Amino acid sequence: MKTLLHIIASPRGDLSRTLGISHAFLKTFQESHPSWKIDTLDLSEEKLPSLTAKEVSGKYVLLSGKELSPDLKEAWSAILKHINRFLAADIYLITTPMWNFSIPYMLKQYIDIIAQPNYLFKYTSSGTVEGLAKNKKMFVMMSRGGEYSAPSSQSKDFQEPYLRTVFEFVGITDITFVKAEPMDVKKDLREERLEKAKMVAVEIAKKAVSS
Ligand SMILES: Cc1cc2nc3c(=O)[nH]c(=O)nc-3n(C[C@H](O)[C@H](O)[C@H](O)COP(=O)(O)O)c2cc1C
Repeated sequence: MKTLLHIIASPRGDLSRTLGISHAFLKTFQESHPSWKIDTLDLSEEKLPSLTAKEVSGKYVLLSGKELSPDLKEAWSAILKHINRFLAADIYLITTPMWNFSIPYMLKQYIDIIAQPNYLFKYTSSGTVEGLAKNKKMFVMMSRGGEYSAPSSQSKDFQEPYLRTVFEFVGITDITFVKAEPMDVKKDLREERLEKAKMVAVEIAKKAVSS
């Protein structure tokens, strides 16, 4: 069964503007693609594994070209579960507000957990990187309090460029971003911009599989 993994990085539940955009996407996606399974990973509800010295040492074992020892595999069981869940998906939907010009810490923690050598990427003998999450698509729904579209403020946006960089690094090159802004700075624009983003999300959802 084909799977869409919905990764939620706003803790605001029904109050989340970004989740509102994602729900518009999902409603149309499910109508257009009823056979797909939707797997929801709410990062505010999930107890994500920590990366302490032991877990991090596993990363360096893999980077040195060795296998994880049984002891490290045990310490890595929660990490491997998240990696397998991520790799089992065909399409990703990420719901993320901007937090301090970038992404909420729980999404960063999740990325630090899953972006592991030999699983999501590998270095080739010639020193280049090969992303291992191949033939997948990603849709990122974002909202921000301020506005970052003008050339003068684009350089402050570390959300979209970061997500594009890290997911391209692991092999996901087909990424579509939908953003609603400004949500807090100019309140009179909020509803209009949010509705516009939802409309864009609906159109994208119709073509999510074939395009
Ligand atoms: C901890 C925190 C940090 C934020 N940092 C920024 C920021 O750097 N730039 C910005 O434009 N908005 C920032 N915001 C505002 C949110 O991006 C904005 O309100 C967004 O619409 C919230 O989305 P949500 O309702 O889906 O959670 C921040 C909000 C919070 C809670």
